[in-house]
Amino acid sequence: MAGVGHYVPERVMTNADFEKILDTTDEWIVSRTGMHERHIARDDETTSDMGLAAAKMAIERAGCAASDIGCVIVATVTPDYLFPATASVLAAKLGIAGTAAFDMEIACSGFIYGLTVASSLIQSGVYRRVLLVGSEKLSSITNYEDRGTAVLFGDGAGAVVLEAAERNDFLSSELGSDGSDPSLLLVPAGGTVAPLTAEGISEKQNKMVMKGREVFRFAVTKMIEATDAALAKAGLTRKDISYAIPHQANRRIIDAAAKQLEMIGDKVVITVDKYGNTSSASIPIALSETYGAGKLKDGDLIVFVGFGGGLSWGAVAWRWWER
Ligand code: COA
Repeated sequence: MAGVGHYVPERVMTNADFEKILDTTDEWIVSRTGMHERHIARDDETTSDMGLAAAKMAIERAGCAASDIGCVIVATVTPDYLFPATASVLAAKLGIAGTAAFDMEIACSGFIYGLTVASSLIQSGVYRRVLLVGSEKLSSITNYEDRGTAVLFGDGAGAVVLEAAERNDFLSSELGSDGSDPSLLLVPAGGTVAPLTAEGISEKQNKMVMKGREVFRFAVTKMIEATDAALAKAGLTRKDISYAIPHQANRRIIDAAAKQLEMIGDKVVITVDKYGNTSSASIPIALSETYGAGKLKDGDLIVFVGFGGGLSWGAVAWRWWER
């Protein structure tokens, strides 16, 4: 990874803010989720705007120019438009209109899938340098009248610049999905199943709904299975892990999986307390913060692991090399 970056909007929404608008308490939110606050984008701040800020940081840290990038990928469930792709809009904002650009929509597993696709494009020689961005304006699809989901989500973006190098960093990937029950976690209206109508909007069918308890159980199981499978594919074991950077959906999910994976101490990166669940942005934000804190050393083994709507899940084993 040549460079990593992130961005979160200025406005902070605390648990106390939710106490004013919902039948909830700081104590409930902290004890059930580990969240204290999350960042919320301005009305006029878009997914590509946040992605742009994260991308600029990653490109600067990579020591390259935007024009050195051969392909832009954006993982998001909250695109600027249904189409064109947010990646295409972002590339133009970076001043590299004309560059290959596409979106990936795999909900909270988006960064894991994106890392797999971007790394494969590099290893196959199709591109030398790929910009991968996870950016989400989840506040735009959050129902602030539903206490079961409203408190969980925040906005933000993370970005990585991947480039071809002699030392291999992408070691393995394990991906999965099961679309047999979309009702577990979805935005019901706005697609071809239920086109948006005035009635649908008044019933908030254009906002996220979730069966939290079912998703919780699935998340813990899949995080463990995907981590072990990715490690096995790379010929590694749990003991080899320097850092696990999981999707930040709920502190309890992360702790439960970490315990079963026998991951102890500060090997597991946590940001959910500050940012809530930022979907495909959560892993690259956590990675960028870990890098910014000077914690990553040459040769460290990082396991990225995520899960989310789809349902979807995945893990990537990654060797961190200083560039
Ligand atoms: N404040 C206060 N009470 C709340 C609440 C809130 N913000 N949200 C839900 N409750 C209530 C429920 O209404 C329920 O009340 P009831 O027993 O009277 O019906 C009670 O708390 C328990 O609800 P339950 O859903 O069993 O809580 P939980 O311990 O499972 O925690 C989640 C709820 C959503 C935090 C948890 O299920 C979760 O994190 N699931 C995974 C979600 C996720 O990660 N989604 C994204 C995937 S990428």
